[in-house]
Amino acid sequence: MLFFLDTADVNEVKELVATGMIDGITTNPTLAASSGIPFTHLITQMCELVEGPVSAEVTAIDAETMIIQGRQLAKISKNVAVKVPLTVEGLKACHVLTSEDIMVNVTLCFTATQALLAAKVGATFISPFIGRLDDISQSGMELIHDIRTIYDNYGYTTAILAASIRHPIHVLEAAKAGADVVTMPPKVLRQLYKHPLTDSGLDTFIKDWNQSGLTI
Ligand code: E4P
Repeated sequence: MLFFLDTADVNEVKELVATGMIDGITTNPTLAASSGIPFTHLITQMCELVEGPVSAEVTAIDAETMIIQGRQLAKISKNVAVKVPLTVEGLKACHVLTSEDIMVNVTLCFTATQALLAAKVGATFISPFIGRLDDISQSGMELIHDIRTIYDNYGYTTAILAASIRHPIHVLEAAKAGADVVTMPPKVLRQLYKHPLTDSGLDTFIKDWNQSGLTI
């Protein structure tokens, strides 16, 4: 399973890339706006920090302008994945951009049939938003299961990128459901490796070792 960080915070990326667990980055216009960094500059920096895909979202709502913006973003680096919304205009733009060998992440997916459309136009990634569905009392995880079944039934290679992840259980369930990628805020990644029994167990081991006089 690939781990992407869902953030526009360059310092967080720098710190967490050192763990060796980060395979890519996703951003969105809201995150980018909060970074205070010019967008092209932000994406350039992210692409220098990770080898894998860096999602950069278009801000147009018509296919023609999305394609222009997508081509512009793709020029920043070969690891840019152009993010387009799951609208008919976004799907048209996806079709054109993928035919030019540009990676495309189709975002704001809330139904399995929307995901089927993204696969049909050759999306590199589909981003179902788990947390936002849970927020309105619909099962985000059921969506991941449905998309996995549909993609496997027909051999679609579009990668399922579980997004809008709010806590470690989302990561666990997405992994069990067969999501190819999970994109999470830095806070959730940190929560994954934190366990009180690991901390207390380690404290005891170190204390006992130090008292023993043994050396390595
Ligand atoms: C994914 O690409 C989105 O940026 C993100 O996961 C949205 O998450 P949110 O619903 O927590 O804003």
